Amino acid sequence: MPEPEDSATLYGQLLESARRLSFDLRDCEAGTGTDTDRHGMTPEWSPLYGTPMWIRMSEPERRRLTRREVSHFLGVAIWLEVALQIVLLRRNHSVDPTRADVKFLFNECADENMHSLMFVGAIEQLGERYSPLDRVMLLMGWVFRTFAWNEVAYGIVLAGEEVFDVMQRDWSIDERVAPAVRRSSYVHVVEESRHMSFARQKMRDHLREVSRVRRYVSAVLIAVGAHIIAKGLVNKAIYRDLGLDWRAAKLDIDRNEHHRMMFRRATAPLVEFLDREGLLNGVARTIYRKSNLL
Ligand SMILES: [Fe+2]
Ligand SMILES: [Fe+2]
Repeated sequence: MPEPEDSATLYGQLLESARRLSFDLRDCEAGTGTDTDRHGMTPEWSPLYGTPMWIRMSEPERRRLTRREVSHFLGVAIWLEVALQIVLLRRNHSVDPTRADVKFLFNECADENMHSLMFVGAIEQLGERYSPLDRVMLLMGWVFRTFAWNEVAYGIVLAGEEVFDVMQRDWSIDERVAPAVRRSSYVHVVEESRHMSFARQKMRDHLREVSRVRRYVSAVLIAVGAHIIAKGLVNKAIYRDLGLDWRAAKLDIDRNEHHRMMFRRATAPLVEFLDREGLLNGVARTIYRKSNLL
């Protein structure tokens, strides 16, 4: 499908911005030993923040918790970055590689690979490890990689990017957070802003010609994807690893109004965009409410 002229211009501008403002991420990935004295992320982003379980913890225990949690969050980010590449490269195999949007996609994939390496470096510098994802995420990852079509693929990718954007803006400037996470968050926020513009424009381009039924179905599938990402950020294995009672932790997280408020904040820009593009129908709204994103 040829791109409309205004879209081609935007893709060209994004590519130009990538040329002007990109980081040498190998510097972030190289590592400078481990840092186990600080928080892994802004503590207010911990799903347990402010709960009875949090209050009972000592300060070092809270720092240990946020380091473990952020390592999992970054693992989810890597999972999304790899899935994005599989879906989008597959869809663009054999198309004209000189098209501005395809050139930008190549650039985006290069960014994402370096982000994944950078996040692995941050996990290692926190003295942490990767937590395997639960079965639902693995299954949904396969469904997404195999079946997601244009606006659904970009919509789910955008949902993940928007949530991380809001969280990482806080982490990047928080002195309580380990430098490896601060630095990688800063780089990610800068480079992802182009990806989000690209995803939004791609969605607009694809939605221009779709039927109302397809728009409805796509909106619901994007909501399901966002729901799975949001739920997947809380992984019982990490709480058990820390010797915490998972059932008590889950109860505290489910009742935590602060956690709900933070996630609503994280998805506010996404919800605004989806609403503007007619992707917030009744079923989608119910799903976003169920996952505390609305
Ligand atoms: Fe990324
Ligand atoms: Fe991205």
